[in-house]
Amino acid sequence: MTRLFFNEVATRDGFQIEPAFVPTEAKIALVDALGECGFAKIEVTSFTSPKAIPMLRDADEVMGRIRRRPGVEYTVLVPNLRGAERALEARADELNLVMSTSETHNLANLRMPREKSFEALSAVIRHVAGRTPVNVSLSTCFGCPMEGEVPLSEVLRYADRFAGLGVRGLTICDTTGMAHPAQVSEVCEQLLARFAGLQLTLHFHNTRGMGLANVLAAVQAGIVRFDGSLGGLGGCPYAPGASGNISSEDAIHMLEAMGHDTGIDLPRLLTLARQLPDLLGHEVPGQVAKAGRIADLHPAPPAVAGLRAALASD
Ligand code: COA
Ligand code: ZN
Repeated sequence: MTRLFFNEVATRDGFQIEPAFVPTEAKIALVDALGECGFAKIEVTSFTSPKAIPMLRDADEVMGRIRRRPGVEYTVLVPNLRGAERALEARADELNLVMSTSETHNLANLRMPREKSFEALSAVIRHVAGRTPVNVSLSTCFGCPMEGEVPLSEVLRYADRFAGLGVRGLTICDTTGMAHPAQVSEVCEQLLARFAGLQLTLHFHNTRGMGLANVLAAVQAGIVRFDGSLGGLGGCPYAPGASGNISSEDAIHMLEAMGHDTGIDLPRLLTLARQLPDLLGHEVPGQVAKAGRIADLHPAPPAVAGLRAALASD
């Protein structure tokens, strides 16, 4: 069965929309614990403006104090050159640059037109070339909550331009859960046909309950890399109606049940997911942490033994 690779984004995409500040110590402890679960990559934090994303204002300290497990890549979100400088200083293993394929969402999230973002990110890519691998996350690729449809041609146009600049990977993001499986199949087919040499990652939100169906459609199309968020936390503060990413543990549970190899220690991951409500002060959307794995059986009610005995003596 296919080897699949997960990038855990709870401490970035997950935390950035949380109302109450998560203490720096708790962020570090969670990243360290996630590092023991078998993830290929962990998106630790973002080097954005602390005014824009106050939750992640401690990014430098968190990156400086996490325990780095060999074999795990520690990546960070970067919106501009200033962020790239901070990420290099923090010895991030990868810079995950971000811009939106929707003009309106780019203006809301990054406060500039797409073309200006592209120029700024091109400068970042030239600046870090040969030092640190670059991934580019393209937001709202399956639809924008303000503009509606984002044509696939636009997504491919930006993907092409970044591929031309020599990035290592592209993440195609469904920022507000507008993708459906048929659309995902088509997008993935086109991406794989054009960018076979790049690491292609799919990033889904479960805003409309289609998250795992979309993961399945992407796997069936041949995608092997996914972003997921512990507990199903997450959402972009600058996208109206945004809500959680696909839950890492629910996606991994499904894929393992189907026979895929994710490299993840699921019981260990579920233990972490079950600690989130205490850490954040509210319930989280992930389902397997509540229901248990399909392999976690319950004892039969005592009456069943009595019935069995009666049936056997008949
Ligand atoms: N790290 C730290 N501070 C930064 C920064 C960075 N990467 N980029 C800008 N700043 C600071 C500037 O120093 C300035 O501070 P000041 O007001 O104290 O002088 C302030 O932020 C504004 O800077 P400016 O260059 O005018 O940027 P802006 O206001 O146009 O904001 C972004 C642009 C991209 C930096 C900002 O909108 C941002 O960080 N957005 C977050 C996007 C995000 O993470 N969204 C969710 C994930 S998709
Ligand atoms: Zn997201």
